[in-house]
Amino acid sequence: MTKILVTGATGNIGRLTLKHLLKRRPGSELVGLARDPAKAADLTANGIEIRQGDYFDYEGLARAFDGIEKVMLVSATAFTDRNTQHQNVVDAAKQAGVQHIVFMPIIRKPDSAFILPQVTEEDLFVEGRLQASGLKYTLVRHPPFLDNVEFYVGGNALETGVQAPAGMGKAAYASRDDLAEAHAVVLSESGHENKAYSLYGGPAVSFADIAKILSQIGDKPVTYNVVSDQEYIAHLMAQGLSEPAAGFVLAWVHGVQAGEWDGQTADLERLLGRKPVTAAEFLRASFAGHLAKGSNDTANGY
Ligand SMILES: NC(=O)c1ccc[n+]([C@@H]2O[C@H](COP(=O)([O-])OP(=O)(O)OC[C@H]3O[C@@H](n4cnc5c(N)ncnc54)[C@H](OP(=O)(O)O)[C@@H]3O)[C@@H](O)[C@H]2O)c1
Repeated sequence: MTKILVTGATGNIGRLTLKHLLKRRPGSELVGLARDPAKAADLTANGIEIRQGDYFDYEGLARAFDGIEKVMLVSATAFTDRNTQHQNVVDAAKQAGVQHIVFMPIIRKPDSAFILPQVTEEDLFVEGRLQASGLKYTLVRHPPFLDNVEFYVGGNALETGVQAPAGMGKAAYASRDDLAEAHAVVLSESGHENKAYSLYGGPAVSFADIAKILSQIGDKPVTYNVVSDQEYIAHLMAQGLSEPAAGFVLAWVHGVQAGEWDGQTADLERLLGRKPVTAAEFLRASFAGHLAKGSNDTANGY
């Protein structure tokens, strides 16, 4: 029996990946890695074994990977020495006899000079480790999450208008749920070994486009208000983000405005066997929820 292990099982994308894997494989073939297995009771209830493990604990990882054929490595959190953690996972997987690792770098445009702090160099590092490991690997490259667009536009855009630094850059955001389903396809099929996919959603939208979409959702004009970088950070901090988190969001928005994620491939659609969720569909569902609740709760990931 081949076993598939997904790390970050208690986080958003790891949990969603296991949820989609359950539609393709019996729970008995699935394993989740969690720092705190008590937070994964819902997965255990579905027959998924949860093994304890921390990216910083090499020996524990090697034990957790025993008998596993494929590992989905959910990328480590920014600002937490991602290189050490990713290297531990790759090396421990190799030691334990894992055959294949699926990793989720952020899409980089060929020849782009754009560097996303805490992300670009760390992604290049783990890709180098994977190539050097001799293991089979698949790179499922992600665009920015649709789930974080609410942050990018300032949190409560239906009330305040879209607040973002100047630019007409577009991004082909994808939802975490679609990306997780694509992970499940790659993990449960053969034929994806040593391939790289760019999982753009689409069509790409600008902040002006998002203001138009929100105007339709709220049935009232939602303007795109250009703010300076300093004003943007202050606005996000007023929404409850810490200064480093707000600065990190700003770096993603600079990438959007530079057109770093405005590309298009059929990779995500091909893996899903259907069109990915669009920005308009996603925002309609999430903002409609806020309108119904009368709240401005926002998705996160930072
Ligand atoms: N494409 C994008 O727009 C975008 C945006 C932001 C972040 N990301 C990246 O995507 C990743 C997944 O996103 P997400 O929304 O699923 O994040 P998330 O909900 O924060 O999940 C992160 C998972 O990683 C686990 N984790 C953190 N540190 C760990 C460690 N030292 N050892 C083992 N597990 C550890 C967490 O465990 P606990 O439950 O114990 O905390 C959690 O399960 C993020 O970590 C980040 O690298 C992408």
